[in-house]
Amino acid sequence: MQTIKLSNGVEMPLLGCGVYGSFQMPPIDCIKVLARAIDMGYRMFDTSLHFDSEEPVGCAWRESGLGRDEFFLVARLGAYNLGEAGTAEDIDESLRWLQTDHIDLLLMQYPYGDVFGAWRAMERAYREGKVRAVGVSNFTQARFFDLANLAEVKPMVNQLQCNVFSQQRGMEGLLREFGCRLMAWAPLGGHYDKAEVVENGVLASIGARHGMTAAQVALRWLTQRSVAAVPRTINAAHMAQNLGSAGFELDDSDMELIASMNQLDAGSIDYEDVDFVRSMADAARVGRVERNPGPAGFGFGGSAM
Ligand SMILES: NC(=O)c1ccc[n+]([C@@H]2O[C@H](COP(=O)([O-])OP(=O)(O)OC[C@H]3O[C@@H](n4cnc5c(N)ncnc54)[C@H](OP(=O)(O)O)[C@@H]3O)[C@@H](O)[C@H]2O)c1
Repeated sequence: MQTIKLSNGVEMPLLGCGVYGSFQMPPIDCIKVLARAIDMGYRMFDTSLHFDSEEPVGCAWRESGLGRDEFFLVARLGAYNLGEAGTAEDIDESLRWLQTDHIDLLLMQYPYGDVFGAWRAMERAYREGKVRAVGVSNFTQARFFDLANLAEVKPMVNQLQCNVFSQQRGMEGLLREFGCRLMAWAPLGGHYDKAEVVENGVLASIGARHGMTAAQVALRWLTQRSVAAVPRTINAAHMAQNLGSAGFELDDSDMELIASMNQLDAGSIDYEDVDFVRSMADAARVGRVERNPGPAGFGFGGSAM
């Protein structure tokens, strides 16, 4: 498995598995999918407290019989940052679901709520050895700069929607400035735009010259530039294909052609849309109260939400 070094020297695989949350697939079925992925050689798994995808990964790595140090487990926090104490609790909750004493890479899911309080809790977990590397997700340029500029421990990864149509070129200089790596979510276009990537004629014709599929070209275009990717699939053939994408090199003309496909550089979500932020705050309320029923909730004023 090809790896890249994070700014603190931790080695991170370039290719991993996106994981289905419990609202997409029952954990028991997800564990079977993950067991197959582990058999094939996948070692990095991207999970999220917000999407309840930690439980199946915790079970799958435990049941694999492999040692914990064989795996690179990524965990993302809740949708809306609940401050230092709430984040510290969330980190411990993630550790429990993942059935481990450390997370390889902990990401802040969104730049909303008490970002700096949450980051302090992440820094503390890092210093205590509960977390080997820390980073963020869905941080736009201004939000990324604001945190990275003041943080004692700089974010080591920014996980963003990134694929051939949303290349995140605008983010590259800033990430370089802070020694931060890019990790791609929706590397194959995600739920909505998948067909446009995996059935794309340009990618297919590049792939045909290399004996690869369009999806493999899309993934190789990321990993060849040291952008990590976590494609999600339940299909065994796709799983093998995605892993096999590491086995060839795109040439300069392929890379240039794909670079010209960039349409929506920063992705399809407007992270400054107040309704989006509000929906994340609402999601945090529901998730918190469901997981921790109680009259006072967690500062959101009761259990009725
Ligand atoms: N940080 C965030 O806010 C955030 C947001 C969204 C996602 N993520 C993470 O990123 C991961 C991946 O993103 P995503 O699920 O949005 O999108 P994605 O991985 O780009 O696309 C998933 C879709 O691609 C299909 N697929 C996978 N491999 C294929 C192949 N070789 N050929 C053809 N189709 C293929 C899958 O269908 P089949 O199952 O049929 O193969 C699935 O429908 C998620 O699992 C999650 O871990 C993070």
